[in-house]
Amino acid sequence: MLVLPVFVDANVSARSEIASLPGHARLGVREVPRVAERAIAAGIGGLLLFGLPAEKDDRGESAADPFGPVPMALRALRDAGPGLVLIADVCLCEYTTHGHCGVITPEGLIDNDATLPFLAAAARVYAEAGADVVAPSDMMDGRVAAIRDELDAAGSPEAAILAYAAKYASSFYGPFRDAADCAPRFGDRAGYQMDPRNRREALAEIAADLEEGADMFMVKPAGPYLDVIAAARGRFDAPLAAYQVSGEYAALHAAAARGWIDLRRAALESLTGIARAGADSIVTYFALDAASWIRER
Ligand code: PBG
Repeated sequence: MLVLPVFVDANVSARSEIASLPGHARLGVREVPRVAERAIAAGIGGLLLFGLPAEKDDRGESAADPFGPVPMALRALRDAGPGLVLIADVCLCEYTTHGHCGVITPEGLIDNDATLPFLAAAARVYAEAGADVVAPSDMMDGRVAAIRDELDAAGSPEAAILAYAAKYASSFYGPFRDAADCAPRFGDRAGYQMDPRNRREALAEIAADLEEGADMFMVKPAGPYLDVIAAARGRFDAPLAAYQVSGEYAALHAAAARGWIDLRRAALESLTGIARAGADSIVTYFALDAASWIRER
């Protein structure tokens, strides 16, 4: 059930620790197979790869560079032959100078439709490099259909799409934005991510993504949205992933570091709640720890 997020950084040769995500680092491409070995040994199901490119531009073109950090890591993992599901996050925010998940109009608005070809091109490159699953997290409308068409046309019909269908405009993404250097330089993401007060919109977003051809869907964040997970589980049969995001992880670590909670018990309780709500798989920064804690029980 557990999926480990991994940050692959084109600007790092070995490891660069991420202060706000204890135990996690930005990794150079050559370090990634080592993490995969640990993941296999721990018995976790997959890796979710994020990339930090050497160069950014206003259209995030390096997201589709076949020699960018994510495709390079995917090829290194394929050569290492691990029995892990390899999932590549698809978004522009790590690759754009302005830090938004899509292309920007001269007026400073997100150009939803102009973004779709860039996302599709990135998904194609990741599938060709060996991703089993591509996971669009940008929240542009129509991206699942655009990616499905591109993958089919490009000869990667087997690649699956895990759509971040119900992704809320959350205050729990802060540590990730430090880690992936993708905080928006102006404005916020409320124009394309969802309003935390709205549950029915999540169900509409999930239905739309499945209709467009998503094979699996995600609810994100997880802990504050257990009702959304439960409602989605009751309504849809497709596999449901939940993302316990960076701020959820960092908050538990920070409290534990002060002696206010027991990290291991609190982490396992939070993950159990997400599973109980109906998630089939959980993306979590606790993946390696949780797998070994569960085995020890
Ligand atoms: C980028 C993206 C974000 C996360 C995953 N993909 C940040 C954002 O939308 O601002 C957050 C993950 C986390 O906080 O762990 N599209």
